[in-house]
Amino acid sequence: MVNLTINGKLIQAEKGEMLLTVIRREGIEIPSTCHHEAVEPFGACRLCTVEITRKDWDGWKRYVTSCLYPAEDGLIVSTHAVEVIELRRTLLDLYLARSPKAKLIIDMAAEYGITKTSYEEIKDGDDCILCALCTRVCDEMGFHAISTVGRGHGKEIAPPLNEAPPDCVGCLSCAQVCPTNFIKFEDKNSTRKIWGREFELLKCEQTGRTTITKEFAEHLSNKRDIPIDYFNTNDETHRKELAKTMGRITAWGREEE
Ligand code: FES
Repeated sequence: MVNLTINGKLIQAEKGEMLLTVIRREGIEIPSTCHHEAVEPFGACRLCTVEITRKDWDGWKRYVTSCLYPAEDGLIVSTHAVEVIELRRTLLDLYLARSPKAKLIIDMAAEYGITKTSYEEIKDGDDCILCALCTRVCDEMGFHAISTVGRGHGKEIAPPLNEAPPDCVGCLSCAQVCPTNFIKFEDKNSTRKIWGREFELLKCEQTGRTTITKEFAEHLSNKRDIPIDYFNTNDETHRKELAKTMGRITAWGREEE
């Protein structure tokens, strides 16, 4: 364990734990768009920046992205120093120009007193805030089906050559991690549509409810050694089966006594 001070309060944290995790555990709110526990920290949005110093730094200070900076013994952290707030205000002002209709950005900016951007707004701005959570989760899942393409105002998330991505398995990780629900998909009957592709959804043999796509099931079966039959039942059925088995085991234990 390490001892550090956050906003004047002495805090204990695990060595190597990232400051943002510690700060949020303490109930202190810091805005962020690029952080999600499902993916490795990335340090892209810079909104989580905090001020750090130490007693032996003689008043010297640093500004670090808290999602990437590990908790250390003796660290003195200020999450809302004047300079930090000014930096967040500038960033949110810029984000508001890029995504003027994205509720997440509008709300974050409003909390920092910005209701209108002072930069030129993108006229046809959409809800994509370019946090890259979708591309990162896709990469970490091992698919690399989508990426960030273009530059400046034309920057967007897209499959290669803007065509239906052959490496996508329709797992929905990208849509589920997207903080603004920008990534659209449609599940209808036994079909899932996403990124211009259509996937067959497997059905639970017992409940008739759809589970995951055939391609995702095959991927998990090949890469994670899960028997393909496992995906013929949904989680609810798996839980019921497990409860029945546990019931049988405990009943058997009682009979033995
Ligand atoms: S959360 Fe985005 S840079 Fe840290």
